Amino acid sequence: MSRLADKQICLVVTGGIAAYKAPDLVRQLKAAGARVQVVMTAAAQSFVQALTFQAVSGQPVHIDLLDPTAEAAMGHIELARWADLVLVAPASADFMARVAHGLADDLATTLCLASAAPLLLAPAMNQQMWRSAATAANLELLAARGVHFCGPDSGAQACGDVGPGRMSEPAAICAAAEGLFGSNELLGLQVLITAGPTQEAIDPVRFITNRSSGKMGFAVAAAALAAGARVTLVAGPSTMAPPRGCDVINVRSAAEMHDAVLSRSANCDIFIGTAAVADYTVVEPASAKIKKSGAAMSINLVPTKDILAAVSASPERPFTVGFAAETERLEDYARTKLQSKQLDMIAANLVGMPGSGFESDDNELSVYWADGGRELGKASKSLLARWLIEVIAERYHGQAI
Ligand code: C5P
Repeated sequence: MSRLADKQICLVVTGGIAAYKAPDLVRQLKAAGARVQVVMTAAAQSFVQALTFQAVSGQPVHIDLLDPTAEAAMGHIELARWADLVLVAPASADFMARVAHGLADDLATTLCLASAAPLLLAPAMNQQMWRSAATAANLELLAARGVHFCGPDSGAQACGDVGPGRMSEPAAICAAAEGLFGSNELLGLQVLITAGPTQEAIDPVRFITNRSSGKMGFAVAAAALAAGARVTLVAGPSTMAPPRGCDVINVRSAAEMHDAVLSRSANCDIFIGTAAVADYTVVEPASAKIKKSGAAMSINLVPTKDILAAVSASPERPFTVGFAAETERLEDYARTKLQSKQLDMIAANLVGMPGSGFESDDNELSVYWADGGRELGKASKSLLARWLIEVIAERYHGQAI
């Protein structure tokens, strides 16, 4: 059964050519069991008739903030309270700007401000508008406040341009909406997760690190929380804020991460190693800053301890999941790691390509276990994390397909 079953979704349609896909979105949300009420901005009505949405949703369409019949009963507040999710698709640049700045000068923006429900935006606009500094700043502001995004996709645009700004397809928006509703798949379980890079000191001011941002690990932690788990996050240095609700242990080096994990792994049910742990560390970091000289220099490195392999080999072993970032022969290398580290499961992604992997908001994951696997495809890290947690829960509970 879809997690959208019986969910109450308020779909806000703003003015953009992608509005023509919104009736199909309503149809797909309803097919998943959701109840949908549509709010249109004035501009949206230039693209699609309100009657179309009334027909597909089976509900009157809301347009006016100051409609005396609806407002006799404070209609906008009622609608804001009714919604389990406010979904804006398409979300125009103007609408994003107005929501980012808390404007409430029509029913659609008022609803976003007045509702405590999660807010999911599917942006759609010309590629240059999407790339503009103003839109980027609004996006950052909204994301920092916990607003969720689906898309935009890249490709040919109605205006003839090619680039980012196409609204995501209705099926992807439905999947993103579904991903926002938590489940109880990991209820009562203790999940330990590593995330981010590590830093190996060379001297007091220099270190060796890598391009990991921590985004994937933090998304996995958020997804595990949403699935009902208690989450301990052992995080290497990251500029991002960890999800609220985790028990966070900040570490720097691979050795610190190793100790923080191994002292806790016996008390957890599931361990997920998403961190990009340094493979080598400096033999003897200098105690004072190394001074520059004209001569060549070398740094002596030794391998770090493999945290994942150590957890997997420990006597009170949790269900152990690793990550493999590869630049080629993804399945081969991932399966070799699955076996050599004796893991229950491994999530693998190709790195070194633009738009996916380290630092990116998107990723493409495949999951493997001894006698099977699943392609999770390409999506935002938060959506992939939800799907990954679903597969982990399924395998953990022994309900493998
Ligand atoms: O062997 P490789 O480093 O490619 O394996 C990646 C997986 O192993 C990731 O899950 C990573 O978190 C984990 N790992 C670890 N400790 C290390 C090196 C990698 O836990 N020292």
